[in-house]
Amino acid sequence: MSPTKRRILVTSALPYANGPIHIGHMLEYIQTDIWVRFQRLQGHECIYVCADDAHGTPIMLKAEADGVTPEELIARIAVEHRSDFDEFHISLDNFYTTHSEENRECAENIYNRLNAGNHIVRRVIKQAYDPVKAMFLPDRYIRGECPVCGTADQYGDSCENCGSTYSATDLKNPVSAVSGATPVERESEHFFFRLGDFEEMLRIWTQGDHVQSQVRNKLKEWFDAGLRDWDISRDAPYFGFRIPGEKDKYFYVWLDAPIGYQASFSNLCSKSELDFDDFWGRDSPNELVHFIGKDILYFHALFWPAMLDGAGFRKPSAVYAHGFLTVNGQKMSKSRGTFITARTYLDHLNPEYLRYYFAGKLNSQVEDLDLNLEDFLARVNSDLVGKVVNIASRTAGFIKKRFEGRLSDDVFDPEMYDRFVAAGERIADHYERREFSRAMREIMALADQANQFIARHKPWEIARDPDQGAYLHDTCSLAINLFRVLMTYLSPVLPVTAGRVESLLNCPVSAPGAWTKLASPLVGHPIEPYQHLMKRVESKSIQNMIESSMNEPEVNTPPAPNDSVDEDGKHIGIDEFAKVDLRIARILDAAHVEGADKLLKLSLDVGDHQRTVFAGIKGAYEPQDLTGKMVVVVANLAPRKMRFGVSEGMVLAAGGGGRDIWLLSPDEGASPGMKVT
Ligand code: 2FM
Ligand code: ZN
Repeated sequence: MSPTKRRILVTSALPYANGPIHIGHMLEYIQTDIWVRFQRLQGHECIYVCADDAHGTPIMLKAEADGVTPEELIARIAVEHRSDFDEFHISLDNFYTTHSEENRECAENIYNRLNAGNHIVRRVIKQAYDPVKAMFLPDRYIRGECPVCGTADQYGDSCENCGSTYSATDLKNPVSAVSGATPVERESEHFFFRLGDFEEMLRIWTQGDHVQSQVRNKLKEWFDAGLRDWDISRDAPYFGFRIPGEKDKYFYVWLDAPIGYQASFSNLCSKSELDFDDFWGRDSPNELVHFIGKDILYFHALFWPAMLDGAGFRKPSAVYAHGFLTVNGQKMSKSRGTFITARTYLDHLNPEYLRYYFAGKLNSQVEDLDLNLEDFLARVNSDLVGKVVNIASRTAGFIKKRFEGRLSDDVFDPEMYDRFVAAGERIADHYERREFSRAMREIMALADQANQFIARHKPWEIARDPDQGAYLHDTCSLAINLFRVLMTYLSPVLPVTAGRVESLLNCPVSAPGAWTKLASPLVGHPIEPYQHLMKRVESKSIQNMIESSMNEPEVNTPPAPNDSVDEDGKHIGIDEFAKVDLRIARILDAAHVEGADKLLKLSLDVGDHQRTVFAGIKGAYEPQDLTGKMVVVVANLAPRKMRFGVSEGMVLAAGGGGRDIWLLSPDEGASPGMKVT
């Protein structure tokens, strides 16, 4: 343990509350969790907080599409996120939400202080506006032809074909992805944070050890390009916090997202003895460490320290960025079954496998990391099962059977034991510097030595000779001691297995201080009967996970600019298509739905029975005009509970939305229940 006990507040980036956690996210939570567990193991106080990032346009629109309120949506997602993190053994001290009173208070406080310091200015800007939906459109919600290469259906900020970036107003033939309407330009007053006021402070801060060296170079480019004012407001309708003193202006989601770190900590303070200012006060002697992905560096290395500084808080001690995850060498893709959610992974595989695999590849650089599924199987089986667990499984049984479960009073090869303990200093240094792959390599090299020791002494042979009892006892006892050392080193990565080893050995392996206790080997110490510690990875389980991933429904929100989702993910195979049961139905009755601006409630005759379907066609049809019309329905869509009732299918129509919707009237020969081919 280092001589002084450190106090460290650690965060991971806040996941958006509109979709599931996937294994790309898990890379970051696992990286953070390993570092946090390592610090605690060293005896430091390490507090780890996170929250859902619950505001913004995508969440507002997704809730609307799902027929629920944003609050209902984020509450449901929070439950899912929490259980994903729990089951991956992410040891958060608090998982909260940015849609909370604490966050409102923290956001208003920071904003008011920045405002008082004259760091906020107002300016009227022109923006794309959807006249049908009556809302301003974020770039991601405008589609059109790329102004450079002409490719159709590109986002309003960048082209996926030629990679050009541009502003939404440059797109040719733009349409709103929300309603299909042609956007118009509209003026609105916005609030800007004057980042440039903090340039000198940021230049000094970023030259320190607070960011990785690669990041420092990137930041230099940003400084050279000039620090521009940052637009921190959005117009109604918006799901977020209203700006104090304003009517229809809201904080942009990215303003209150990092403030969510403070809010989650503040919420934890209210449930514990912790003190907010101890960690956030300008002169706090404690550490504040943020783990993030490389795509959100600008926010964390420029805006966030500037906001904190301008509002009188301390700046982060460190911002550590990691790269993106690829699977089998490519971007995660739905069609290849490699867009794997945390839940699907957990349905098929042990989370510790992934924790170990990521640890084996993570370093301190901003590098992308590949999860190769064949390599995953080989590494986990050969390292964890074949090398580490094997040490105990080959020797613990003899201690129990032949020596009443008591380890020998002597250390058979003290030098070897000391070598294992001495390696701890290097391994700790690797963990500290986030060079986890180096740590894993050193640990596995030690595991090789332990296995060679066992192979040399062959306990299974000595055991046959009754005169060799002491020799058997000593060799197996040393093997168990070496195993204890290795499992202590691995415990930040394998907390569950470490817990089992604690029960087996009757000694702490993952508890604070366990690392320093290694200096004393276990002698004359009782152990418990050996229980199975870890199963091999089966290739069938990986296969099943891929198949399940292919079959999962699409998440219908536009991806964030840097989401590593393959565009290929838009395609479905013929087998998937064949699963969709399309039927002709006759509309028996149509009615308005109270409180819904787009939906009509339809009673459909689907041949052999009737169904209720809610369809978003109110903008185009009057209910009385619909009776008797034939429509195509997706008959095997799982019933969906909406705010207004249960919808038992989906009616297909053409057009972009609003008034622009046409039901397809099939040929006269069609009758209800007929299959559409
Ligand atoms: O990029 C994202 O997924 C954001 N939700 C991260 C927010 S991190 C912090 F600033 F809140
Ligand atoms: Zn292009």
